[in-house]
Order: sequence, then C-alpha cells, then structure tokens
Amino acid sequence: MAKMKTVQFTETVLRDANQSLIATRMPISDFKEILSELDKAGYYSLECWGGATFDSCLRYLSEDPWERLRTIKAACPNTKLQMLLRGQNLLGYKHYPDDVVRKFVSKSVENGIDIIRIFDALNDLRNVEVAVDETLKSGAIASGTICYTTSPIHNIENYVKVAEGFAKMGVQTLCIKDMAGILAPQEAYDLVKAIKAAVKLPVVVHTHSTTGLGLITLQKAVEAGADVIDTAISSLSGGTSQPPTETLVYALKNQGYNVELDQKALSRINAYFKPLRAKYLADGVLNPVVMATETDALDYQIPGGMLSNLVAQLTAQNKLDKLDEVLAETPRVREDLGYPPLVTPMSQMVGVQATFNVLLGERYKNISKEVKAYIKGEYGKAPGKVSKELQKLVLGDEKPFTGRFADTLEPGFEAAKEEIGALAHSDEDVLSYIAFPQQAKAFLEERAEREKRTFKYTIQEIKE
Ligand code: CO
Repeated sequence: MAKMKTVQFTETVLRDANQSLIATRMPISDFKEILSELDKAGYYSLECWGGATFDSCLRYLSEDPWERLRTIKAACPNTKLQMLLRGQNLLGYKHYPDDVVRKFVSKSVENGIDIIRIFDALNDLRNVEVAVDETLKSGAIASGTICYTTSPIHNIENYVKVAEGFAKMGVQTLCIKDMAGILAPQEAYDLVKAIKAAVKLPVVVHTHSTTGLGLITLQKAVEAGADVIDTAISSLSGGTSQPPTETLVYALKNQGYNVELDQKALSRINAYFKPLRAKYLADGVLNPVVMATETDALDYQIPGGMLSNLVAQLTAQNKLDKLDEVLAETPRVREDLGYPPLVTPMSQMVGVQATFNVLLGERYKNISKEVKAYIKGEYGKAPGKVSKELQKLVLGDEKPFTGRFADTLEPGFEAAKEEIGALAHSDEDVLSYIAFPQQAKAFLEERAEREKRTFKYTIQEIKE
C-alpha cells in the first residue's frame, strides 16, 4: 500500500478563534480544565498566545499574560505551544528597539513558547530578521510568515521571494497567512506548490472561514503538499474563525491522508467548548453575525475584523449611513499607500484614514499620525508605489526614510525598567509595561493593591 502523506493540525481555539469570534475575551478560567485534553489529542501545535491575547489579558481580563502562558505550559507538556508575533512590532502597533524585541522573544520561549509565527504587515523582511534570529538563538521554531493579500502588484513570484528570504534566515517552517479569508482554492494550490518547489521547508496554511472559502482552500492546499493546516474545534469554528478541525480530520482521513489526531479526544474537546459557546452567545460576547458567511470581503478585500471595526467606529459617531462610502474609499486609500496587506497595524491605519476622508468631506484633509509615519518610511518599505500627491502632502520636498527603522531607535528595556520601578517584579512585567504601558501599569497597580490586602489579612489572622 502506498504510504499516504501525513497532514498535521494547529488548533487555534485559544488564540485566533478566541480573537476572531469573541474579541479575545476568553479568560483562562474558561479553558484551564480542557488543557490536558488538548495536550493529549495529537495536535502539531496549540496556538495559544500572542496576537491580541496579551493586550486583552491586561486590558479586559485582569490576567497576567505571562502567568497564563506558564499555566498552559504546565498543563500541556506534550504539545508545542505557538504564538503569533508581528516582527519588530511585537504585539503592539509601533516598532520597538532591537533589545526589546530580543528580550521579548527570549522571555516568551523561556516561559513556554515552542513555535513563534513571525510576520511583518508589509512583508518587509528587515522587520522580522531580529525576531527570527532571537527565536533561533532561544532554541524555538521560527515560522516565517507571509501575509497574503491580492492587489495589482502582488503575485506568486513576490511571495516566493519572501519565502526564500525567510529560508535564508534559517526559519524551520513557512506559513501562508490569509487573515481575510480571501485566499481562493486554486491560488492556495499554486502558491503552496510554488513555495515548496523553491524552498524545501514544511508549509503551514492559515486562513479564515469568513467568506466561506476556507474548507475548500485548505483541501486544495493539502493536495498541493501543505504539511500543517490551522483549524478550530468545531463549536468555535466558522465565520471569522478558522474552518472546523473535526470536519477536516474526517474528510482528509476519508481521502486516505494520514492524520494522527485522536477523534475521540476531539469530540470531548468540542463537548467542552459547546456550552461555553452558548454562554458567550447568551452574554452577547459572541455576536451570531460573526459566525455567518460574509462574502462581501471577496468584493471589498477587507478582512472581517476590519469590517466590524469600521461598523463600530461609524456607529459610535452616528454615521453608519456612510458605511458604503467608507467601504468604497478603503481600497482607494490602500492603493494610495502602495497596496499594504490589510493586517494589523495596516488594516487599522487604512480603515481610520478612509473614515477621515469620507466624514471630513475631503480626502486627506486630516492625515493620521500613523499614516504620516508610514509615508515617512517608518514602518518599512511599501509593497508598491505610494501616491506622489500624498507623499508631497506629508513630506513636502523631503525624501522618505529608506533604512531599517529600528536602527534609529535607542535601546529601550533598561529605561522602561527604571520607569516602572518597584511595580514590576520581573523582566516579564517590564515587557508587559513596554508593550502596553497604560494597561500594564493599571494591572500592576491593581496587583500591588491585591497583594497589600492579602498581606493585611494575613497580619490580622495572625493577631486574631
Ligand atoms: Co488569523
């Protein structure tokens, strides 16, 4: 009997599914009990940290993100833990100095991360090289990640070049990241084939079910030789989340692929998350709209998360009637900026600028600070040409910066450590402070208060 190809799975329920369906509001208390089951199911990896989880822990859940990671690690000794990292932007929205990037990466690995999926919103490899280098030095797996988008200037040759650049850096795997769910089945097939032909590394495919393409796209990606696919346990799959794990396991096994996931374990995991989904729906944390298929993204090429942000922004300003105009303006702004992929932080920048342009009744009457910085070259190299008029408006006769922006930044770790002082008990706390100063400070102050109270109680108990 011919030996069938093995397909492996990355489970996203703790990170991307959580982020895409319920805005990353899942506290650790909701999933702690199922961790050992997740660990035993036979996944290639559990995507469980990074992305928006870090910010959300500090901002909304009053959780220490590092503590969360250590808890997951302790419960999952057998499965690789994976995080998503925005290269030189880490988990934030600006570029950090190299010493901070290195410290963040090495501490992530030290606290339990095995695989770091590293990308840059512009696919500018200068913005990922330090994170990749430190990941390798720390002994973890670096997954070089290509942001997939469509535009008149993006094609398979560009993507293969990005893959080759990552391979030169020594990454162990490559990932095609389709944040908008617009990667069509045949494109996935051709892209996986082309990358595998050029670079002899395992290929991971990440997509979203938003537009309904997800399942067919992953099927074709596997046919082209993809080694790992990203899926979410079925009760938290679909819509803006990933395609369902069990469905793909079933379908691929049925076609003779070798899948080493334990289907009984999967059904126990799903049975655990099903009542949670009901709870999120009842609480309003999960809006049924995000679970539906939304084909508009195929026309607008706007990721689902960005679409819901635009709706929220306009609703807050009582201007929802302008949505169609903003949706029409968004691709024009994107074109003016040289077709950046619409992924964080570019998706926010393009969305906010398009909203300004429509609501102020004049294009670029107000240009956001971030768009100005982008045009100055502070985010890296634009994939295509930035509009001459817009460049003139921001820079006058000056030339944009063409170097690697992080080279202009002073080291930041020691200064931040001094600034936050005794509130930080560890380098991890300092890194939380660097990543999200306000939220981390509030969290650390609250923690200090809590500790003081516990201390008082202890004294009182002793007295009594
Ligand atoms: Co995603």
